Amino acid sequence: MSQYSTSTKIKPKSIFDLQQMKQAGQKISMLTAYDATFSALMDQAGIDVVLVGDSLGMVVQGHATTVPVTMQDMLYHAQLVSRGCERAFVIADLPFMSNATPEKAAENAALLIQQGGAQMVKLEGARCDVIQFMVQQGIPVCAHLGLLPQLIHQLGKYAVQGKEENEAQRLLAEALAIEQAGAQLLIVECIPAVLAQQISEQLSIPVIGIGAGVQCDGQVLVSYDMLGISLGRRPRFTKNYMQQADSVFNAIKSYISEVKNGRFPAQEHSF
Ligand code: KIV
Repeated sequence: MSQYSTSTKIKPKSIFDLQQMKQAGQKISMLTAYDATFSALMDQAGIDVVLVGDSLGMVVQGHATTVPVTMQDMLYHAQLVSRGCERAFVIADLPFMSNATPEKAAENAALLIQQGGAQMVKLEGARCDVIQFMVQQGIPVCAHLGLLPQLIHQLGKYAVQGKEENEAQRLLAEALAIEQAGAQLLIVECIPAVLAQQISEQLSIPVIGIGAGVQCDGQVLVSYDMLGISLGRRPRFTKNYMQQADSVFNAIKSYISEVKNGRFPAQEHSF
């Protein structure tokens, strides 16, 4: 079917739709996916955004961190995921060191978009020079602040970020600078709910939280956590939706519905 055809019923989500959702106060639902079957299930269940997260290094590849994930891995999984999605907006992670310079980041982002089928790339940290360069090249960018898993060897442990006032102020300033640099979406991970609310209110781009309270413009979870199949300790901010569902599809639907009506995350999932 031609891209100009008017008979198709499926309208793929765009960044414009996500911006409109923020303006209308409608919550954005996002989950990670790593293959075509799961992304198709999410797509059919009505998810807004599918993230090909480098968390695949831990939940799919069995590594202890996301650091070993390569561009080759990300490209492969982005291809699988985008094949399963007809409607959802697809974002792919730039893995550790793939964005060390603006030029390298742009080249790798182009691979994820042109060959991987992603509509946007995500990078960790307030890398405003890299973000600005990519945006100038026409690459849509999602930034990621708060807990940055690719920095685990510098951080030493996975912990809530921005608890101290000066840290919170730094994160807020970074979020504003990221928007200024041209990023069109921001993910905030493991930060106090009150700080995430401030960031969401002060930014005009959608802010998606994970472990960041209910006041963000949307929510994301690692799908294996949300289906209760991740090995090891379950982070406090996750919820196992399989506990009250008779199928993966219905668990995904229930997650989407709880995000949309503000029932997830509850206080017990927030900091
Ligand atoms: O890699 C990932 O899955 C992520 C989410 C935790 C936001 O970055």
